[in-house]
Amino acid sequence: MELTPEIIDRIQKLKEKYDAMGQDLVSYLDGLLYSEYLTYWDYIHLDTLLSLQNPRTDFPDEKIFIMYHQVTELYFKMILSECEQICNHTDINEKFFIERMTRINRYFEHLTSSFDIMVDGMDREQFLKYRMALLPASGFQSGQYRMIEIFATDFINLVDKDVREQFKNEKFDAEKFIENIYWKHGATELSTGKKTLTLRQFEDKYLKTFLNLAIARHENNIYSVYKKLNSSNPTAKEVMRRFDTNVNVNWPLVHYKSAVRYLHKDPADIKATGGTNWQKYLPPRFQKRIFYPELWTNDEIENWGKAWVEQTLKDLNK
Ligand code: HEM
Repeated sequence: MELTPEIIDRIQKLKEKYDAMGQDLVSYLDGLLYSEYLTYWDYIHLDTLLSLQNPRTDFPDEKIFIMYHQVTELYFKMILSECEQICNHTDINEKFFIERMTRINRYFEHLTSSFDIMVDGMDREQFLKYRMALLPASGFQSGQYRMIEIFATDFINLVDKDVREQFKNEKFDAEKFIENIYWKHGATELSTGKKTLTLRQFEDKYLKTFLNLAIARHENNIYSVYKKLNSSNPTAKEVMRRFDTNVNVNWPLVHYKSAVRYLHKDPADIKATGGTNWQKYLPPRFQKRIFYPELWTNDEIENWGKAWVEQTLKDLNK
């Protein structure tokens, strides 16, 4: 067998690589000799992945519900990976920022356009039955969804809108700010006004993680990176506005549409959510959750998500 210059060159480079770490190249070559070829199924852990769908009932549509949540969490992980790269970059420029924000927007847009798998792709009768077997679990407890929000903006923009103005004059205090985060209002029991079990479980599992992330992302989040870039390129502003719309209007609205489809018509079915005040909480026009208020006009803020909800409710009541 001929040892071509390419092979000799690569062996030389490998030797340098292993020498630098005090490692013996020949031993690593032996390892190559004995190791198996990689397969597709091992690389992506396919058997494990396909073993993770464990319905709690016999209704076949429950598997759709489980898998679509899993797909969504994987997209969330891809989004968080981009958020980390943007915020941890030590020498970020406009081009990198725009490219990575475009990736994030693409992921969110996929999630929004595929959400009809939930809205139209499951049998309502089955849903209302198997959903009861899943209480008090809720997508509300998605930790990654909340981490994306903490990465996205200055924490003040996640504080409940009723106390946000008052907090604007205060020094950042992660514990105090997180105590007043907007989403606590979505997990209040209709009957008693107390925290739901869904919220209590969620806080037990994630509150510390959120607190640490809030501290780490104070003045080092996507918004602060954007402001530091001080870009005059209109595309930079555009990707930010698109992100704000994707996370705070478009996705919440398709999601809200599914809640309306399955839970709206019969008030008794509201129980299927763990008894929360979701009708008052979920619509973006009530939450007015806006990551980048300075990038919108007063009129745009005033009418946040309004037109879409009115149209959807009209369509559903036809
Ligand atoms: C038929 C499908 C769905 C219905 C009917 C539905 C219903 C609801 C309801 C009623 C809430 C309010 C909290 C509660 O009462 O539990 C909620 C919150 C939430 N759900 Fe879903 N959901 C569906 C699918 C999904 C999917 C696929 C995800 C993806 C992870 C998801 C993620 C969330 C999140 C992140 C929240 C909190 C939203 C916020 O705080 O603004 N949901 N959902």
